[in-house]
Amino acid sequence: MRVVERLHARTRAQGYSGSADWPAIADLVSRAKVPVFGSGDVFSGAAARRMIEETGVAGVMVARGAMGNPFIFQEVRAALEGLPLPTPTRAHRIEVARHHLSLSAAFLGERSACLEFRKHFCAYTKGESQGASLRSLAVHKTDVAGFEELFVRWAGKDPSSGR
Ligand SMILES: Cc1cc2nc3c(=O)[nH]c(=O)nc-3n(C[C@H](O)[C@H](O)[C@H](O)COP(=O)(O)O)c2cc1C
Repeated sequence: MRVVERLHARTRAQGYSGSADWPAIADLVSRAKVPVFGSGDVFSGAAARRMIEETGVAGVMVARGAMGNPFIFQEVRAALEGLPLPTPTRAHRIEVARHHLSLSAAFLGERSACLEFRKHFCAYTKGESQGASLRSLAVHKTDVAGFEELFVRWAGKDPSSGR
């Protein structure tokens, strides 16, 4: 069996505050006889590459950086392979968010999926010009049709004109 070791580079008391202790990861890498995967504060492809360079980990894991930004994995690949940074269009991001909700509804049932999707919608629309007003509406949505109105609004189209 292949053993893979993982270090959570924050204390329990620290929660998500401060920075993940990458030097502690590097220290573990230097002592461990098994491949080490690192995690903590990887929010971009460049950060993933930096973690590998600075710590020598065999792999990088991404948690918060993937919330609302599943495109980060393409970004990591581009950063590691020296390819141009992918820049997903708004239309593509909306399509992915819509697909995410539809898979989640099939898995969890519509209402539970929509309640859970509120936080994902907020993450997907972070940094969008009309993000704050979209998010204030999202926190009241309980069905897929309600989110569909927001996807259309986010796309910048008149909801009455359809998609
Ligand atoms: C939505 C979410 C769910 C998580 N669930 C778990 C979990 O079930 N078990 C666990 O050990 N860590 C869990 N974590 C912690 C992450 O695995 C990771 O250690 C931590 O978020 C630091 O990585 P990051 O800076 O990439 O977010 C979770 C994190 C997030 C954001």
